[in-house]
Amino acid sequence: MTAINAVTDYTLDGDVGVITLNSPPVNALSRGVLEGIAFGMQAAVADPGAKAIVLICEGRTFIAGADIGGLGSRREERPIDPMGELERSPKPVIAAIHGTALGGGLEAALCCNYRVAVPSARCGLPEVNLGLLPGAGGTQRLPRLVGPQKALEMMTSGMHVPARQCLEMGVVDELVEEGKLREGAIAFARKVLAENRPLRKVRDISEKVEAARGHPEIFAEFRKANARKFRGFMAPEWNIRCIEAAVNQPFDEGIKTEQKLFRELLAGEQSAAQRYAFFAERQANKIPDVPDDTPLIPVNSVGIIGAGTMGGGIAMNFANAGIPVTIVEVKQDALDRGLGVIRKNYERTASRGGITAADVEKRMGLITGSLDMNALAPVDMVIEAVFERMDIKKDIFSKLDAICKPGAILATNTSALNIDEIASVTKRPEAVIGLHFFSPANVMKLLEVVRADHTSKPVIATSMKLAKKIGKVAALVGVCPGFVGNRILGQRQREAQKLMFEGAMPWDIDRVMYDFGFPMGPFAMSDLAGLDIGWVKENSRGETIRDALCELDRRGQKTGAGYYDYDENRVAHPSPVTEKIIQDFVARSGVNARTITDEEILERCLYPMVNEGAKILEEGMAIRASDIDVIWENGYGWPVYRGGPMWWGDQIGLDKVLAGMKKLQAQMGDLYKPAALLEKMVAEGKNFTRV
Ligand SMILES: NC(=O)c1ccc[n+]([C@@H]2O[C@H](COP(=O)([O-])OP(=O)(O)OC[C@H]3O[C@@H](n4cnc5c(N)ncnc54)[C@H](O)[C@@H]3O)[C@@H](O)[C@H]2O)c1
Repeated sequence: MTAINAVTDYTLDGDVGVITLNSPPVNALSRGVLEGIAFGMQAAVADPGAKAIVLICEGRTFIAGADIGGLGSRREERPIDPMGELERSPKPVIAAIHGTALGGGLEAALCCNYRVAVPSARCGLPEVNLGLLPGAGGTQRLPRLVGPQKALEMMTSGMHVPARQCLEMGVVDELVEEGKLREGAIAFARKVLAENRPLRKVRDISEKVEAARGHPEIFAEFRKANARKFRGFMAPEWNIRCIEAAVNQPFDEGIKTEQKLFRELLAGEQSAAQRYAFFAERQANKIPDVPDDTPLIPVNSVGIIGAGTMGGGIAMNFANAGIPVTIVEVKQDALDRGLGVIRKNYERTASRGGITAADVEKRMGLITGSLDMNALAPVDMVIEAVFERMDIKKDIFSKLDAICKPGAILATNTSALNIDEIASVTKRPEAVIGLHFFSPANVMKLLEVVRADHTSKPVIATSMKLAKKIGKVAALVGVCPGFVGNRILGQRQREAQKLMFEGAMPWDIDRVMYDFGFPMGPFAMSDLAGLDIGWVKENSRGETIRDALCELDRRGQKTGAGYYDYDENRVAHPSPVTEKIIQDFVARSGVNARTITDEEILERCLYPMVNEGAKILEEGMAIRASDIDVIWENGYGWPVYRGGPMWWGDQIGLDKVLAGMKKLQAQMGDLYKPAALLEKMVAEGKNFTRV
């Protein structure tokens, strides 16, 4: 065995040279790994005993991507060409894949003559999710191997394709037995030698791209079918252009196109925001005073109280992860209804091919209903999701305190109630925590984990870990009205309402928010949720626009009208009825309606959000600015290519945000008082997210 460098070995196994990379945790393409490939290849090519070469990785995976942290930084080391060394080899090179071959890892494998993989392996080019494209030839090689259609799907989704599918598509040439990758790859290499197979290079394969030449409709149709999904993002389109180049240009020209488009994305604001978001999510799991070695509480069973909108969705998360759930309700019909909704949701997923019919039964089998809270005695964690009323929650928590075993975690899904007050009725406030799921709870990624005054570190650490296990993105927040997400949302909602009284129409405000990149504006959102949430007919005196709309039975999408009129396809149209109601309100208030520009709408809605984020940080209700951004991207549809409110504030300039807040304060009072932290940041020339 020869050590090529600190992370690479070379050995000769009979007539096959084997280059082994070992750079934990994921053999990412660091400088060491790149040099290992380049120098390992030189050694193998120079070794007269080696007739073929295998590239394999130690540890849990093949090369699982580039070293993202190093992206964009300047490299001054001497130039090497690992991809070229692989591709130009005079001896057949076989990539041996286990775990995941992602991004630069798959691109390296595509420079080899052949690829073998174990059945559990997956391959993908996920650069698009960082606002990038594969910039090491992957955009030109993949379409040559699998054709443009499959390349479009893979590269614009970033999906990790299972080995069997890779075999069918031609990304992988042969599957080898699980656990016997090295032997399998060497045997494959010997087969290539014995059969005297030609030194096929992916760059020279042309049938599939040639067949697509002169068929621009392939791309036009793909763009059209995915327009909604790609809206606002640059990277999917830039990936598509590379694949068009693979079809229409010779290989070397295509590589130049790839390089040019890659540089554009790398230098752009979107990728910077998307890379920031990627690291922000990871960072959110780090709690400064809760070290990584904090003991965890095993959670092998969960109890949920309330089978309503939230309880049912929360239960599904756990059943999906294989954790048994007991749901407690007050009445049989509520329980039956709740369980029925869960089943219907699963069956809908199954009918779309997301899961099998057997999965439906397996998951339903993990969910047990009960009308007796004593059924929660043995569970490791309880999540309460009953009506948002302090008296009911307190009653439940005092009962839970008596029923649940010592050490059980007692969580509440409250949206706004004081969790310290809820915890105060128990003799174990250290076990009480907020787990704020978002609706629909089985779909939305975000989980706000709410730390109360006495919540213990193991309870926090366990909740953060568990969030990951059930596929959520968690951020730790403190107890304050609305916690972090809704507290900031409150700012935008208030401004949207106020703007309406100053002369902007709901559809103008919604359009500005939609064009900014939100999936929908605040009024479309209200119509979707229903305007009558919390509205009581008997108490309604037509005092608000909402009252007036609900009194006309315009309660949102479900009644065919709300702020908007809806046609039979549920498409929203600006409503003359709503417009008249608003105009009457404005006239009665004595305010002169004015023309409000899109720019003003944007600033009025978003600056107060950044300002509120600063207050949240000041009060220590979020650990770091990037946690606020994680919350807004995963729970409220803030476009990831704009990084989140705090990142966005930094991008446009905190001095601008501060000046905007001061102007509003001068016009409309201290509701708009700039946060002290915002003033301080500007005075010190600092920003929130790139300190
Ligand atoms: N709906 C949302 O968008 C949303 C989002 C986040 C958090 N929340 C919070 O989640 C909680 C539940 O909200 P929801 O929308 O699911 O309400 P919901 O009205 O749909 O469901 C509440 C359920 O709790 C049951 N219930 C009431 N008292 C009970 C008791 N003593 N024991 C057992 N079951 C009882 C009711 O029968 C009902 O089925 C609230 O605290 C709410 O603030 C709601």
